Amino acid sequence: MSAYGHQMEREYSAQSLSSTGGSEMGSRYTMETGIYMSSFAATVFISGIVTAGVSLLALLIALAVMLQSCENTNSGALQIYKDIDSYSYCKSYALHAELNSLDVDFFPAICKDVAVRYINEGQYMRDLNMTVGIAENFFSRERPLNDSRDIVLMDADDFFTSENLHSHLSMRRINKDAFHDSSRVKNMFAVKLYLKLQAGGWPLILISRKPETLRDATTEHLASVGCGGWSSLIMRMDNETQMDSQQHFSKQRTALQKEGFQIIATISSQMDAVRGPCLGERVFKLPTPMFNYKTEDYVGSTNL
Ligand SMILES: *[C@@H]1O[C@H](CO)[C@@H](O)[C@H](O)[C@H]1NC(C)=O
Ligand SMILES: *[C@@H]1O[C@H](CO)[C@@H](O)[C@H](O)[C@H]1NC(C)=O
Ligand SMILES: *[C@@H]1O[C@H](CO)[C@@H](O)[C@H](O)[C@H]1NC(C)=O
Repeated sequence: MSAYGHQMEREYSAQSLSSTGGSEMGSRYTMETGIYMSSFAATVFISGIVTAGVSLLALLIALAVMLQSCENTNSGALQIYKDIDSYSYCKSYALHAELNSLDVDFFPAICKDVAVRYINEGQYMRDLNMTVGIAENFFSRERPLNDSRDIVLMDADDFFTSENLHSHLSMRRINKDAFHDSSRVKNMFAVKLYLKLQAGGWPLILISRKPETLRDATTEHLASVGCGGWSSLIMRMDNETQMDSQQHFSKQRTALQKEGFQIIATISSQMDAVRGPCLGERVFKLPTPMFNYKTEDYVGSTNL
């Protein structure tokens, strides 16, 4: 083929391309192909979208469930923290109220519920158990001397329960059942400690806030809960019934010390019995429920 022929051929093909409107045709084709392809793709696409949608939905549901359970666990944890918070909060109030003999009005309202739960959920019992455990541990390491001069003082009123204790404790007004329960639990641990000390050979001296007129009833009650064999039971003399109970306890301890007794320990659930002079080597203060502090005295009480 001549060079001309080549050129003609090139020109022709270029012409034919332009004359046949190749580019137009091409684009139409592309369009047609595109339309054809997109309808095919649509099927693939829609099923893809449906599949993806279903997967996404499943994923969302899974996430929602996870979040929900996470939230639940979280709110559970938060509840516990809230409980611990209000518990510590009320415990601080309780300590202050107990030290200062403040009445129920002093407490924030939230503490009434906390005080009842403290008893009902067993924390009061655990606290008592721990304190009694500490005391037992102490006495297991100490030994009384054999001249009956080493003595342990116990609060005689801790052996009484709410049913037979004349008292003005605020807990009774808040929740009677919780009050009775706490009183029974305290009684149980006081008796347990008493028996342990007695078995260990410790001479026990009991001091009560009640007047001499109740001596027989008190002795009978102590025997009924299994607490016999004490060295002495000190009650208020007729001329001492108006005396503040803390003063009464202090006076009796001082007198015992003057008589030559060596007080090893003083044990009580109430502040009035564990304050003042001559408390001995150790004081064991049994825990008291939040509103169960004696804010008034037993002065003038004529029954158990
Ligand atoms: C008291 O605490 C001891 C552990 O010190 C435990 O073995 C015992 O079961 C507890 N008793 C009560 C009544 O909680
Ligand atoms: C204490 O000593 C006396 C003798 O002085 C003895 O009869 C008594 O059994 C002893 N008591 C104890 C608890 O050891
Ligand atoms: C009460 O009377 C006794 C004697 O019977 C006496 O020893 C005691 O000091 C008196 N107490 C008061 C507070 O007066």
